[in-house]
Amino acid sequence: MSEEVKKFKITIDGQTAEVLPGTSILEAARQIGGKSVPPAMCYYSKLEASGGRCRTCLVEVSKGSEADPRPMPKLVASCRTNVMDGMEVKNLSSDKAQEGRKAVTEFLLVNHPLDCPVCDQAGECHLQDLGYEHGNLDTRTEFKRNTYDADDLGPHIKLNMNRCILCARCVLAANQLTGEREHGILFRGDHAEISTYLNKALDNDFIGNVIDVCPVGALTDRTARFASRVWFTKPMNASCKCDKCSGKTTVYLKGDEVVRVTARKDQWGEVEEFICDTCRFERKNLSDWNIEGPRHIDRHSVISLNHYEKPKDELRVLDNPMAKEISEKDEK
Ligand code: SF4
Ligand code: FES
Repeated sequence: MSEEVKKFKITIDGQTAEVLPGTSILEAARQIGGKSVPPAMCYYSKLEASGGRCRTCLVEVSKGSEADPRPMPKLVASCRTNVMDGMEVKNLSSDKAQEGRKAVTEFLLVNHPLDCPVCDQAGECHLQDLGYEHGNLDTRTEFKRNTYDADDLGPHIKLNMNRCILCARCVLAANQLTGEREHGILFRGDHAEISTYLNKALDNDFIGNVIDVCPVGALTDRTARFASRVWFTKPMNASCKCDKCSGKTTVYLKGDEVVRVTARKDQWGEVEEFICDTCRFERKNLSDWNIEGPRHIDRHSVISLNHYEKPKDELRVLDNPMAKEISEKDEK
């Protein structure tokens, strides 16, 4: 008989969960749900070795564990810190964590252009959400920004390096989904950039997934660029018979026109199942798809507004007395 594994108890912003040893604070927070879940710009549960690069998921650990209740002296990256039994964590209820996130947002935006009005990612961009929540109204830095020319990575993908936050998700996705190294991060420090070696075009049946994992508008779909603001489209669950992937996608309709095809994403903005390039880039006729019905957008973002139902995270926050108190305080 297998031995039952003892679960660890963790409390985040006053809400408690029991999780398996080895679970990160971020994953534990996702199990609890609601607004206490830290944002994550580089962690991606479907990609091995992701996380630890952006620091947007910082939280305060006010009690280390039952055995050693001392608080951790510094904010920790919740995607890379595992739960200990009896741990107590503050996210929304910690001014220190909110200040830390504000500072990280400022850093992420140091070189990032504020070109949301012309960026295809606007409306579903994690950095845009972070900027609204934690951004400064003004910049405190006056040095010259790093700028790059936009580049075509093969026939379907556009790289706009100005917007890249170097989260490395696209590199991990390319390495782990395509089985061969397609591109990487060249150079170091503030010279670091995403590039294909020798300008090799990204050409692989699953490489289009780098667009879905990119948290900002640095990698966009050339077949859908500037076709529509995302909030004017209707996201629909669609499927097709495909011999390369499951064929389960979200198609974005403008009238009867399929303007974009993506993988289906969960409430954390993460892909449920990666899709192939044929589905993403080549099936642009309504007749290619069996439309299953409206896609519920769980994430609270511009794209979820006026779409079918309230995002689940908005509803879940009502079950969390501490988060409710905080959101009421915020509104004053
Ligand atoms: S291009 Fe996008 S996914 Fe790749 S490192 Fe930059 S921000 Fe991350
Ligand atoms: S999500 Fe944790 S460091 Fe980026």
